Amino acid sequence: MSLRISVIGTGYLGATHAACMAELGYDVIGVDVDKEKLAALAAGILPFHEPGLPELLRKHVGSGRLRFTDSYELAANEADIHFITVGTPQRADGHGADMQYVDDSVDSLLEHITGEALIVGKSTVPVGTARRLAARIADRARPGSEVALAWNPEFLREGFAVKDTLSPDRLVYGVDGQQPLALLRRVYAPILSAGTPEVVTDWETAELVKVAANAFLATKISFINAFAEVTETVGGDIKTLADAIGHDARIGRKFLNAGVGFGGGCLPKDIRALQARVSELGLSHTMGFLAEVDQINLRRRDRVVSLAQSMLGGQLPGKRVGVLGVTFKPDSDDVRDSPALDVAVRLFNAGAEVSVYDPQGNANAAGRFPRLNYVESWQEAAQDADVVLLLTEWQEFRQLQPEELAEVVAERRLIDGRNVLDRAAWREIGWDITGPGEKYPQEEL
Ligand code: UDX
Repeated sequence: MSLRISVIGTGYLGATHAACMAELGYDVIGVDVDKEKLAALAAGILPFHEPGLPELLRKHVGSGRLRFTDSYELAANEADIHFITVGTPQRADGHGADMQYVDDSVDSLLEHITGEALIVGKSTVPVGTARRLAARIADRARPGSEVALAWNPEFLREGFAVKDTLSPDRLVYGVDGQQPLALLRRVYAPILSAGTPEVVTDWETAELVKVAANAFLATKISFINAFAEVTETVGGDIKTLADAIGHDARIGRKFLNAGVGFGGGCLPKDIRALQARVSELGLSHTMGFLAEVDQINLRRRDRVVSLAQSMLGGQLPGKRVGVLGVTFKPDSDDVRDSPALDVAVRLFNAGAEVSVYDPQGNANAAGRFPRLNYVESWQEAAQDADVVLLLTEWQEFRQLQPEELAEVVAERRLIDGRNVLDRAAWREIGWDITGPGEKYPQEEL
């Protein structure tokens, strides 16, 4: 019998997972409480920017393999495997994860499941969640139904979501028996046949794998950014330092780019939630270093703001600042916890006139901070600027030419917040250019 799948929660993770499951050949129902989002998805319109995903969505909405509903009853009746992909945002009252959406979606499914079913958690959750949910299932499942639980974390990166789902580095299953394992292997058979490594483990390990991966990545970024603080003081070249240590295969060069730091919907909240969880477990010292990782990361933003101020002779009020990039990374329209947007807002709050251009992020940023001046091109953002800040490394900005930018600005001052421009080429025609990891001003070197 063909597998029938539901995906509960049609945000970033869920919409991607649903479309990719349809691509693997399954009949998929995406479930959400947000009717507007459902209507858009059902019309083949993706409510966020993710390369390659709109095509997949339209293909499978068109083929009828991918449907959307707000009815848990329909999902329970028409699917046997239910992936939970709802959000686990940071709680309003602390650093822990808000588990309300996960709990509600499981409860809603349990109300309607009458036969055999497998619930598969994919959301990033505090360790111990699966065991807690298993007790909830035992308590609330309808008489006569048989509901199993597995944990199957997702490691997709924004901008590469389709590729990361269809060709992941690994598949991790937290299971408590052979039957859930066999079902997951059936679901992922086309991916496994391509040679994707499989890790079969218990619930707790599966939950921890996800947060451990994100904590490691965050730590790696803050590690190099901590060295950036050193080179900013003594001189030296942070990129060369990263290249040199990156040659050591045990270290590796990836995620060693010093810059304005990490943001987005995962890394910042996940390291905070992990600290909160281990504290609950009486292990607050164990992850104490993550508080430092967070602090180093946030100091990057202070550094860029103070650099802008120094470049402008200490004066921000009334100065024109052109900001290139507001998303937390390129190829995304996501501005959640974006260092770029935070820096732009701080400069505005300090009295600067801030013009912002992002190829995809303007609308989301304007939704949060409408008072910045959002414009439609880098030329407009940089028009008559006293200083330009490149804060998200979109390809369009990596290709900027010093002569072109010089034509529109008032003063040739540039902060390359992602260290992607060739400093020498810019300095050659008189730009005052600097960036993270660099001692400023130059003449003190
Ligand atoms: C991350 C994880 O990579 C992914 O596996 C997980 O499933 C979700 O969280 P994502 O949030 O899409 O993915 O972004 P990622 O590519 O990891 O980048 C995170 C942040 O780190 C971005 O703000 C990026 O600009 C920054 N970063 C990344 C650096 O500052 N330096 C680097 O060297 C790499």
